[in-house]
Amino acid sequence: MMRLSLRFIIPLALALGGIAYGVVPLVDELTLKWFVHDLDIRAKLVATAAQEPLVEMLTDKSRDKVRLEHIQAYFDRMLQDERLYAIGFCDNAGKLVYKTATLPAGIGCGYPGPGVEDRGIVVKLHGGPLHVVTTPILENGSRLGDMIIVHDMSFVERRSADTRKYIVYLFAALGGLIALITVVIAELSFRGWMAGIKTLIRGQSLALSPQPKARELRPIARDLEALVHDLDNERRARDEAQITWTPDALRTILREDLKGDEILIVSNREPYIHERREGRIEVRRPASGLVTALEPVMRACSGTWIAHGSGNADRDVVDASDSVAVPPEKPAYRIRRVWLTKEEEAGYYYGFANEGIWPLCHIAHTRPVFRASDWECYREVNRRFARAVESESRTDDPIVLVQDYHFALLPRMIRERLPRATIITFWHIPWPNPEAFGVCPWRDELLEGLLGSSILGFHTQFHCNNFFDTVDRYLEARVDRETFTISYGGEPTEVHRYPISIEWPPTALAQQAPVAECRERVRREFGIPPETRLGVGVDRLDYTKGILERFAAVERLLERDPEWVGRFSFIQVAAPSRSSIEEYQLLDARVRSAAQRINQRFGTPSCQPIVLAIEHYDGAQVYELYRAADLCFVSSLHDGMNLVAKEFVAARDDERGALILSQFTGAARELPEALIVNPYDTEECAEALRQALAMPPDEQRSRMRRMRSLVQEFNVYRWAGRMLLDAARVRQRRHLSRRAGTAGAPRIIGLRRA
Ligand code: G6P
Repeated sequence: MMRLSLRFIIPLALALGGIAYGVVPLVDELTLKWFVHDLDIRAKLVATAAQEPLVEMLTDKSRDKVRLEHIQAYFDRMLQDERLYAIGFCDNAGKLVYKTATLPAGIGCGYPGPGVEDRGIVVKLHGGPLHVVTTPILENGSRLGDMIIVHDMSFVERRSADTRKYIVYLFAALGGLIALITVVIAELSFRGWMAGIKTLIRGQSLALSPQPKARELRPIARDLEALVHDLDNERRARDEAQITWTPDALRTILREDLKGDEILIVSNREPYIHERREGRIEVRRPASGLVTALEPVMRACSGTWIAHGSGNADRDVVDASDSVAVPPEKPAYRIRRVWLTKEEEAGYYYGFANEGIWPLCHIAHTRPVFRASDWECYREVNRRFARAVESESRTDDPIVLVQDYHFALLPRMIRERLPRATIITFWHIPWPNPEAFGVCPWRDELLEGLLGSSILGFHTQFHCNNFFDTVDRYLEARVDRETFTISYGGEPTEVHRYPISIEWPPTALAQQAPVAECRERVRREFGIPPETRLGVGVDRLDYTKGILERFAAVERLLERDPEWVGRFSFIQVAAPSRSSIEEYQLLDARVRSAAQRINQRFGTPSCQPIVLAIEHYDGAQVYELYRAADLCFVSSLHDGMNLVAKEFVAARDDERGALILSQFTGAARELPEALIVNPYDTEECAEALRQALAMPPDEQRSRMRRMRSLVQEFNVYRWAGRMLLDAARVRQRRHLSRRAGTAGAPRIIGLRRA
């Protein structure tokens, strides 16, 4: 600032000083004219005043000598006026007859010449200017002679020199002042620009940061912001497309983009459950899309997975810090188990999470139940997990991947304990519209909790948009749909779409027998004749999965096309789930009875239309089923993504089989080559079954090929990798802002309810 000011102020002051010098001669000339004019008038006054006494003295009849003395004395008295320099008198013959001693030799009669009487001229004599006026002395109209009046003009020079000096000073001071004001204004607006540009370079929304101060900057800022955003997206898409998404790619991101930063995952369901059966401890993999997706990621990044220890032998295998290394056959990461009492599990997991939020977010027409006691448990358990995250993190800025609806409050709780953490929350289930979500008595608290995240992910843009709408409706937050960011109480939350997927190639596929063998083995195992066409459904036994609707479609097919009776069988594997909840018990009963009724109606001695296996199948068994089937039917009434659809596609390396897929799954947006159906429309679903069974091998192949290449390309490593790259970007930006001194640790501010 100082240097800039000096560089600007001094030259401007000098320039104006210079201008002043140019102006001075003009001013000099002007003032000289005024002074001469003044002296003309003054000389006239002097002459008029002297007229009468002088005439009297000149016409005095006394002797010449006396007259001379009188006039001389009179002239000397007149000279007491400090401006009068000399006086003289010439007779009509042009002879200088009287004069003061001061009259210069060069000034005499006839000076300054005819025609300039009464008008002064300026002469420079003896080094100083003199003003000389010759004026006639008249007696009754006849001329007695001329009086020479000489004024000293040296005062004019003195004044002129002073004026010149003050003018230069004035101009220089004016120049300095103007320059100073200009520099201050320039500096202020420069700072505004710099702040705006810095904000943009950091990649933050200008709309989020304090408004650019300079009004004129705002339109440019908006354009720049849009440009940076587009470039960011483009770069993201390009970077992403260039990577072959494998566990190694994830490891590279962790090593290079995240510099080996610490990673913690938090989910309710643990990836390995230890259970005691007949005196032996067995390890079970749960039926959970979330676990299926995250387990390969965790194997790649060797972090810590914090989860509820729900197995009855879980406590028997942990170390002193409640941790166990997994996978059991080749340990790659740690599970840190959090223990819950039966009451806590009932209130937090069965109650608030699964009787409240689950039906709230799935439009499956099951009413959510909200109990205050469940809410209390939910809050307390979230707090417990926040403490676990804090105690597990070795650094103050870990990357924490919070999973699903069991932990809506956790992000903000972690943020309060570890303000520098990068918190990525992924919501694995749909997010409903604001009206549907608004019935929750604690909707604001859930939203506030989630907005403690640095990044919040959903499977589809539709769910992101619903979330924006919900926040917009219920909280006083800044929602920027252009940059996908919400600002509420501290660090902004980016909301993005990350469609989850499966590992590619799937581990479970590696041990699979050829398709023909699988077909044969499965048919044998289920007592289905070898030529029977086979459909499969693999789900948790959950009312959102549309299992009853699926059975209704099978029934309708057999009704409408009896040729399939005895020739088509549908195996439904339904893993028991959340069976303490009444809705799930009712569903269990309904599913069993529907299967029984259809089998009674259309079963033949050798072929049951519905084969129901309400039990847990492991990955290898499920993949064998997929490979044995002619079609897979996913009829969810509402589903965030649905990984069964992607698994079926991944299992069919023979490029055969048809997929029927509910339009209400996230997967339907990625797999349009499936036969897309509305599960509520029984006719349409029956028709899709017919079409799938009749689909020529070529069509199966071309549809399957396209779906396989999509799942291969958009696999789970890409899902996780995109989130980690975004986490790296968020961390890098924060790091840069901290270095630039524009950001400290994110603020935690008081939150207000809308
Ligand atoms: C869904 C949820 C997961 C959950 C899974 C199994 O996929 O999004 O969070 O783990 O269902 O449900 P469960 O209640 O058995 O964990």
